[in-house]
Amino acid sequence: MSSHRARLLNKVNLTDEIAEFRFQVLDGPLEGLEPGAHVDIGLAPGMVRQYSLCTWDSEGRWFNIAVKQEPDGRGGSTAMHGLAIGDEVELGGPRNHFALAETSKHITLITGGIGVTPILPMVRELQCRGADFRVFYVVRSRELAAMDSQFREMSLGDHYHLHCSDSDGRFDIAAVIQTVPVGGDVYVCGPEPMLEEVLNAGSDLRGGAIHFERFAAAATFATEENDSFEIELQSSGKVLEVGPQESILDVLRAHDVPVEFGCYEGLCGSCMVDVVAGEVDHRDGVLSPAEQEANEFLCVCVSRARSRRLVLQL
Ligand code: FES
Repeated sequence: MSSHRARLLNKVNLTDEIAEFRFQVLDGPLEGLEPGAHVDIGLAPGMVRQYSLCTWDSEGRWFNIAVKQEPDGRGGSTAMHGLAIGDEVELGGPRNHFALAETSKHITLITGGIGVTPILPMVRELQCRGADFRVFYVVRSRELAAMDSQFREMSLGDHYHLHCSDSDGRFDIAAVIQTVPVGGDVYVCGPEPMLEEVLNAGSDLRGGAIHFERFAAAATFATEENDSFEIELQSSGKVLEVGPQESILDVLRAHDVPVEFGCYEGLCGSCMVDVVAGEVDHRDGVLSPAEQEANEFLCVCVSRARSRRLVLQL
């Protein structure tokens, strides 16, 4: 996966669970560092994880990410927190599926938990642009607000709202969405219930769009039974069968069809392939509902078919 290597330069604990890691790019510079982008970090053989960029230098020589330790997770955060200063990792990307639009008239950013990591550089960028924006940072209690001090250092004034549920009560997402001006966009990154609530309130938006990034694949598919289907590779006309227990990506790799991939769970967007024909059963967390409906591309690591055959631009 790697196009670069990086060395851990520094680690700072922001809360009991969240630490910020600074990596030096060893064979840089790293290009494409921008708000909303993430990098792939190879922590061990077969263990590649995606992390949103928080901070970086303009030369692309170093960058910071923040990672929450999740003892019950799949091991990535434990491996990251286990790194020692000077340890080296493989680096892929960056990629950006959560980029700030240039044209928005007004931007509302809503974030919570470790979802704050891509929102921080977005806010920096919006402040530099002199944009009309406001950010709502929702946490259970103040000591969990890992990035609060970094927001406050920016002197954001009324643009910044820290909401602590233990003292401020429940954060009313629908009420916030109703105050978005005509044509205003919403950016959200946080726990899945927060994301779902924003998406559900989206019909109250007047002309703007919701942009989001997920940290976990939509869980509703986990127990669904899968049918087999066919994929046809447009370039060769070759037809391959995808069984109930395998992904399109599994089948492509088994047949040595070159295709990029990263997370293997529909979150990073690196395995996106154009759809020529057929109806996709989208199961990723990257594409917006409108993009999924357009049926123009799919993430081959998780998505399946509603039609008997999908023709892919491969
Ligand atoms: S490999 Fe990450 S979305 Fe498919």
